[in-house]
Amino acid sequence: MKIILKIERFNPETDKESRFQEYTVEAAPTDRLLDALITIKQFQDGTLGFRKSCAHGVCGSDAMRINGKDRLACKTLVQEVADGDGAVVEIRPLRYLPVQRDLIVDQADFFDKYRSIKPFLINDDPLPEKERLQSPEERMKFDDATNCILCASCYSACPVPEENKDFLGPAAVSQAYRFIADSRDKGFKERLPDLDRPDGVWACQNHFKCTEACPRGIKITKRINQTKKMIQDHRKAKGESINDDISD
Ligand code: SF4
Ligand code: FES
Repeated sequence: MKIILKIERFNPETDKESRFQEYTVEAAPTDRLLDALITIKQFQDGTLGFRKSCAHGVCGSDAMRINGKDRLACKTLVQEVADGDGAVVEIRPLRYLPVQRDLIVDQADFFDKYRSIKPFLINDDPLPEKERLQSPEERMKFDDATNCILCASCYSACPVPEENKDFLGPAAVSQAYRFIADSRDKGFKERLPDLDRPDGVWACQNHFKCTEACPRGIKITKRINQTKKMIQDHRKAKGESINDDISD
């Protein structure tokens, strides 16, 4: 079948504003949308900018907004976004991150926020002879969060940065949870100043858009609320006031 990819294009070096350009591509319903983009790049317009690497949902580099939803082009089948011959599929870059060219965004802000929560194991205890052991039950507390591929789909899907660009964002908070819920980690207090602030966990309003968007099935909103609960418990233990209303 033939589909029309309506792609938002922008080159900050030459354009004042973005524009949409349409490309007609022959594609099978079971082709991936990434295949259609590659076809355009190879045979129709070599100037089209998009990022991809693994093409198998592992590297996280080809997240984009497809028909208004943030997804990986390599994990999106044509039949999921085009309902027949002549269907138009709108493709835009991720939101909130500056466009470098067409569908390529500058992810520096996203990664700065991710780095700010110290996404690594913190434990200064003397090293055991072999390894720091953990039970399967302890691991399951945060297991899904270890699957994050840092694609930023959740960041773009979240409505909060529309009004608060300083929000830490869903990926950074769920990755903070990944470590503070880890029985081997001792870095809760070190991460607390970045999490327990209005632009940290408390900016999350439980829209659940991040959870819907995540290509790795991470229960992001739940992990954010578990982080809020840990902060509340910490405050309670110190006799401090707490925020109310944490949903699951
Ligand atoms: S939490 Fe999911 S959507 Fe967000 S960056 Fe990680 S893999 Fe992507
Ligand atoms: S190209 Fe690597 S996740 Fe899609």
